Amino acid sequence: MTDYNAIDRLTAQLSRAQSGASERQADVAGRLHRARRVVVLSGAGISVASGIGTYRGAGGLWENPELLEAHQVESLPDSLPIIWSVKGPMRARALAARPNPAHMALVKLERQLVGRGGSLTIITQNIDGLHQRAGNTEVLEMHGSMMRSRCYDRMCALKPFEDTYAPPAGEVPICPRCQVQPLRPDVVLFGEALPWSVISAAESALHQAEVLLVVGTSGAVSSATTTIDSAAAYGVYCVLINKEPWDHPHPHVNETLLGPAEEVLPRLVFLADAQAGPA
Ligand code: APR
Repeated sequence: MTDYNAIDRLTAQLSRAQSGASERQADVAGRLHRARRVVVLSGAGISVASGIGTYRGAGGLWENPELLEAHQVESLPDSLPIIWSVKGPMRARALAARPNPAHMALVKLERQLVGRGGSLTIITQNIDGLHQRAGNTEVLEMHGSMMRSRCYDRMCALKPFEDTYAPPAGEVPICPRCQVQPLRPDVVLFGEALPWSVISAAESALHQAEVLLVVGTSGAVSSATTTIDSAAAYGVYCVLINKEPWDHPHPHVNETLLGPAEEVLPRLVFLADAQAGPA
């Protein structure tokens, strides 16, 4: 019978030898190997290899000041045509996209942790649903989901619902319940509160975690920095995995591994699986 575990171990050792995993990567892999509870905070960078763009930096959505302005809560409801003109195509792109090796590595990490009685919680700033589609089971959507819509009128009886309709430019869909008010994507705009149930679940996961992996985020919004602050308050070891260093390094980040998430994460998870980190 094929011994898949042995193959995995061998592949991991080869992978390490060939790719020249650094001592720092090996140290983080060792921590993942010893941990029972791990939390990941993910941002737009983790979905880049799936063809979904980032918000900041060259080519980022917020380079266009009109779009940035439209996504402020004070701009509602007049900005809904612009919001839908962005979120409609984003929805279509996300539906067509596939989880990439970074997402899949987190599925593998969850299996490793669950296999030894632990857990992996993903707190994501992303609204593309790719972690769930990859197969992770504990995903907390801090900024909502573009795969859901809700009525603009909070008093309307319509609950947020799964919605795959990508309206063409210029169309603002109308609420199917009240048939008066416009629909809006069920996402958190600038100036809106983060969902309390998500914050509370995230806090509870961090409280029990040994390691926090912060992946593919610029750390420009407070949801990232406050997550790291909370982790530090609970004594959680924090590792930043990002393509580039942060403009303002966070004092509670213990380790930074620079590189594309779709390369760094699979390598770390392989190494952790092979118990290649320091014991
Ligand atoms: N692997 C790892 N990191 C990457 C990759 C990659 N392949 N590609 C890009 N990055 C990094 C960039 O270097 C950048 O630091 O991902 C980061 C993306 O930063 P942002 O675009 O600011 O995305 P994010 O941090 O998730 O934004 C947070 O801001 O506008 C709001 O609600 C929006 O959720 C979003 C939030």
